[in-house]
Amino acid sequence: MIYKGILSCVIAASSVFGTFAQTHTLEINTKKTGAAVSPTMYGIFFEDINYAADGGLYGELVKNRSFEFPQSLLGWQAFGNVEVKTDGPFERCPHYVVLGFTGHKECATGLQNEGYFGIGFTKDEEYRFSVWAKATDGEATIDISLADQSTMDENQERAKAQLKVSGNEWKKYELILKPNKSAQKGCLRLLLNGTHGVALEHVSLFPVNTFNNRENGMRRDLAQALHDMHPGVLRFPGGCIVEGETLKHRYQWKNTIGPVENRPLNNNRWQSTFHHRLFPDYYQSYGLGFFEYFQLAEDIGAEPLPVLNVGMACQFQNWNNPAAHVPVDSLQPYIQDCLDLIEFANGDANTTWGRKRVEMGHPKPFNLKYLAVGNEQWDDLYFERLRPFVKAIRAKYPDIRIIGTSGPDSEGKMFDKGWKAMREIKADLVDEHFYRNEQWFLSHGLRYEGYSRKGPKVFAGEYACHGKGKKWNHFETSLYEAAFMTDLERNADIVEMATYAPLFAHVDGWQWRPDLIWFDNTRMFKSVSYYVQQMYACNKGTNVLPLTMNGKPVAGQEGQDGLFASAVVDKRKGEVIVKVINTSDKPQDVTLNLNGLKGARSATATTLHSDNMDAENTLDNPDAIRPVETAAVCQSKKNMTVLTDRLPAKSFRMYRIK
Ligand code: AHR
Repeated sequence: MIYKGILSCVIAASSVFGTFAQTHTLEINTKKTGAAVSPTMYGIFFEDINYAADGGLYGELVKNRSFEFPQSLLGWQAFGNVEVKTDGPFERCPHYVVLGFTGHKECATGLQNEGYFGIGFTKDEEYRFSVWAKATDGEATIDISLADQSTMDENQERAKAQLKVSGNEWKKYELILKPNKSAQKGCLRLLLNGTHGVALEHVSLFPVNTFNNRENGMRRDLAQALHDMHPGVLRFPGGCIVEGETLKHRYQWKNTIGPVENRPLNNNRWQSTFHHRLFPDYYQSYGLGFFEYFQLAEDIGAEPLPVLNVGMACQFQNWNNPAAHVPVDSLQPYIQDCLDLIEFANGDANTTWGRKRVEMGHPKPFNLKYLAVGNEQWDDLYFERLRPFVKAIRAKYPDIRIIGTSGPDSEGKMFDKGWKAMREIKADLVDEHFYRNEQWFLSHGLRYEGYSRKGPKVFAGEYACHGKGKKWNHFETSLYEAAFMTDLERNADIVEMATYAPLFAHVDGWQWRPDLIWFDNTRMFKSVSYYVQQMYACNKGTNVLPLTMNGKPVAGQEGQDGLFASAVVDKRKGEVIVKVINTSDKPQDVTLNLNGLKGARSATATTLHSDNMDAENTLDNPDAIRPVETAAVCQSKKNMTVLTDRLPAKSFRMYRIK
């Protein structure tokens, strides 16, 4: 969403204030259409870090809903006569609880779930409670409520309902709870009413109003934010969680499909990496599994890009320990996982894995085109494992584009070795990762100009500017990301996709920052970096246009006063789009010569700017910095369309010219 109108005077301002010492002339050749910009160019990378999945995007509000955490009642407060048993109806999630009469009517038996940092609920919204249950000795009654413990009210219950459970067969029960007041950190209470006992399994609570109203769906505001970025690609599920700190805990996609009640719990690789929390209770329920990822990609219009394990555990955690990884001659099950995933995504109902997708409710293929094998691996340990994967995938699915990785370094010996190996292995794309500081982003504005145009394309799969001064998500770093991204755009012939990382963070449960989108239990805000990504993704055009400034490539070089720029044409809309970033601390005059266009034309200018480099968006002030759109005018000069402007110091401005 872009604010309109307020700055309309700014475009005219250059003539009022006169010109600065140097006007920077951008020559844009609108008739010489360059490389196509890949529709996948600007995407998103989702990993379950910072409580991005359970407790975040995934709509489930109950923590440890299947009692499968190693401490079965973690997240639950149990009182009275509560017993945990292990012969439940779901083979891979065998735990459940039995609530029994205490023997005294005044001593209640019950359970209370704390959710993820509390359960957030909103007045008058509907919440679907569901549970698998059976009566243990005649019809049982459970009082179910959403409560707000933070209040001193005599009655903390904000929504109440009663559930009758009869019969000693496991059945699924559902009811709707509608709170009469909101709570940020509420809880779910189940209270045994009467003397008859009941067994409970998979206790679940979802907002009814999920994104696209799916029952096992996504939190609406967070998924909508993804949708509104118009991402071209969705990379999932990680990141290091693909590898696991040991192979036992690697991400196994086959465990994440089918009925949610029977998806086994997995450790989360990020479980013990919090700086500010002592108790690690971070697991993967797999409720948000591969079917849901594919569906989400479809819902937000992005190409799905799964990353699968290459037979290696996290190399950072298993430094120089070849024994941590699968021997090269034992990789077949891992390779088979890749082949089966392609069948799951694209196969028809007559195939083993295609049928599973159809049974889950998606008869049409997901049209998978990309597959990454290995996350952030490096050196020979990786190369020798990747080779047999590539051979097997090429043999069966020659059209799938395979993505390898150059490891965690943004340049240097190991990075070069990775790229060399990827060329030899003939990967289609190479996934580069760079979390670097301000200086790096400012000095790499011509990174891709020097890349060979032969061989694999670039996927900048994880990147973000990390403030040296230990600041996070503030305006300045986002501005430098915008500057750097002009280089991705100018080099669209070699850069096929790029995804900022990480994507989400819960304000109470993060371990990594900066992040693109922050949230608590009921609210969210988009960082300035989100708006940078959105401005690029929604305005990527169809083809690059050649552009020079003062006769040189544009990227903050000497004599260019910290200016960065790129230009594209959108052939479908008939628009030229020019992005200019002024990273210097003084205003800069620019003249855009639109060679090949004639006459005065209407245009818009969208600006992302703050006077305060440390300013950031927050939950309480989510709109502190966001793009503002104004009208702009292009004049006719020397038989050419020309736009003159003065860019504020430290600003990102994008022009759209009809
Ligand atoms: O994005 C966070 C982590 O950074 C990813 O899991 C990993 O690939 C990289 O090291």
